[in-house]
Amino acid sequence: MIHPKAKAKGTEPRAAHPGPKVHGGVRMASVSSSTVDWRTRCEEYLRAFTDSDSIRFWGIAHEVDGKAEPIFNYRFEHTLAAVKLGRWLGPQVKADLDVVECALWLHDCQKKLKDPLTKDTHAVDASAEVPEILRGTDFPQAKMAAVCHAIEHHVGLRLTKKLSPIETACVWDCDKLSKLGAASLIHFGCISGAFQPITTEDILVRGEAWLELCKVIVASMNTLPGKVEAQRRLAFLRAHYRQLGREWRDPMEPSPIGSTKILDP
Ligand SMILES: [Fe+2]
Ligand SMILES: [Fe+2]
Repeated sequence: MIHPKAKAKGTEPRAAHPGPKVHGGVRMASVSSSTVDWRTRCEEYLRAFTDSDSIRFWGIAHEVDGKAEPIFNYRFEHTLAAVKLGRWLGPQVKADLDVVECALWLHDCQKKLKDPLTKDTHAVDASAEVPEILRGTDFPQAKMAAVCHAIEHHVGLRLTKKLSPIETACVWDCDKLSKLGAASLIHFGCISGAFQPITTEDILVRGEAWLELCKVIVASMNTLPGKVEAQRRLAFLRAHYRQLGREWRDPMEPSPIGSTKILDP
């Protein structure tokens, strides 16, 4: 393990674009006469930005093959979960898949791990970066405004009215669905220790508080498939924290899986 302020020679955070141009703190490939695949550009941009920010925030990194690797890159993992959801939800609601996937790749591309008291402008900041990130790629120019619209409207855990167009609605749903369910437990658990010392009891207390906010998210979902999946994931989270509470608080309560009987052979 290495500390970034005392890193050895040749242990720079991996950069996706080794070209000379630096944009938004991320090295960009110089644009040649041939176009670049837009998904590759989005993923590589996000990887480089979030790896660097993760190492900055943790203040420590692993050294892998001479390069500094983050202990856990929460932002990239969350984004990848949201992209996977977009590929699932988009076709069901007949959304433009280029717009949905591109907006999901880039929706948090300027979001840094930081003090929550700092003014958060990450949605408009990300939207402003979209044209430059996609420059020289094969992403259709005519769809870029829709990507920016979806990114600018993805924030918040509560909606008072449904979003439109469907691409913007779909991106909001996928971003929020990625904060529910099994993968979200991994993501929250792995990043928690970067913010403060953590115990099992802390995780349990925070998880139980999060369940209350999850109800708001479920009620705000824009799309029917999104809402059904959100309800399924919330049920799983409730069962998870019920079981964790049962294991951790002494004396153990009866199992919530009441019908399960262990038979003595
Ligand atoms: Fe965001
Ligand atoms: Fe997000």
